[in-house]
Amino acid sequence: MTIDQPATRPANPRFSSGPCAKPPVFSLDKLSGAALGRSHRAKIGKDKLKAAIETTREVLGVPADYRIGIVPASDTGAVEMAMWSLLGARPATMVAWESFGAGWVTDAVKQLKIEAEVKTAEYGQIVDFAEVDFNTDVVFTWNGTTSGVRVPNGDLIPADREGLTICDATSAAFAQDLPWDKLDVTTFSWQKVMGGEAAHGMLILSPRAVERLENYTPAWPLPKIFRLTKRGKLIEGIFVGETINTPSMLAVEDYLLALDWAQAIGGLPTLMARADANAQAIFDFCAERDWIDNLAEDPATRSNTSVCLKFTDDRITDGAAFAKAVAKRLEAEGVALDIGAYRDAPAGLRIWCGATVETADIEAMLPWLDWAFHAEIDAQAQAA
Ligand SMILES: Cc1ncc(COP(=O)(O)O)c(C=O)c1O
Repeated sequence: MTIDQPATRPANPRFSSGPCAKPPVFSLDKLSGAALGRSHRAKIGKDKLKAAIETTREVLGVPADYRIGIVPASDTGAVEMAMWSLLGARPATMVAWESFGAGWVTDAVKQLKIEAEVKTAEYGQIVDFAEVDFNTDVVFTWNGTTSGVRVPNGDLIPADREGLTICDATSAAFAQDLPWDKLDVTTFSWQKVMGGEAAHGMLILSPRAVERLENYTPAWPLPKIFRLTKRGKLIEGIFVGETINTPSMLAVEDYLLALDWAQAIGGLPTLMARADANAQAIFDFCAERDWIDNLAEDPATRSNTSVCLKFTDDRITDGAAFAKAVAKRLEAEGVALDIGAYRDAPAGLRIWCGATVETADIEAMLPWLDWAFHAEIDAQAQAA
């Protein structure tokens, strides 16, 4: 069944899961107020870095007694810093259900070589948090970007846990409700839901995480870029904008623009509602078709940011080649860029639905997915 190409195209075909679409109000000239060519330690630079921290706190509702720091090397930098600075004080549980979580498991087990229980689940599934011992330190990813499976809520994380929770929330922050009382370390990058640049990571520490930092020295050496304490005390400057090394003031300006936009449209509830509406449009599309489905098996765990889809039509002979060919057709038509599944994930598509994406663009793209699927089924039949 050949179907005609849809009459309209999305105004913005950028559905990459990172770097993600810029906020709808973005234009390069709006960054002209950046403190370029100035020291980041001059008042103008420090004020901007501090504003980035405090506006993050306001938008995300981070408690006043939690520290928020801007650190090097995007989300990876923030997670690594936390793991290398905090792990080893007590046994750990490493929890993973997709590629990024698996990377943190490798670090703890093969690099840090700490005593760790590893709990994993296949792509599409999630580890049962009821079986995790939160008296150990627990490292996990809130939203598995490469499987589109997220933690539905923090109810299974006990408030009176003895261990620390270290949470990679890079594709969840600003789109999903993060229960701060259940999270001791939370990390994310500006490049995801806010559509910022990837240069820097955000590291959010609970008072218990700070207590650990001040009372525990890991057995391994820590490079300067990871060091959060000096002589047994937290380096407080990091959490007011005195970064460990030189940040990009252009990236900072860009993040401030995104935060301004977020506040102007109504803050976190609106950001979450935008992601929900985007994802729902895709869920509805899948529900009406028998050839495509969400990779996440339990609807409660379906991501509203990195929505991962699998083709389920039994006419498909080579799943990976088919999914790639569909993504290629959509890219060639300029209607959906960068939506192939992650390289380590099962064959399929991954469509970013974070807050910077307009629902109208998702809705305009989906009929093209119908078209590309049928065109590819036809092509496959002709080639046979
Ligand atoms: C869950 C998760 N963790 C870590 C990363 C790495 O982030 P970055 O490249 O910003 O360091 C990503 C990137 O997509 C991710 O999705």
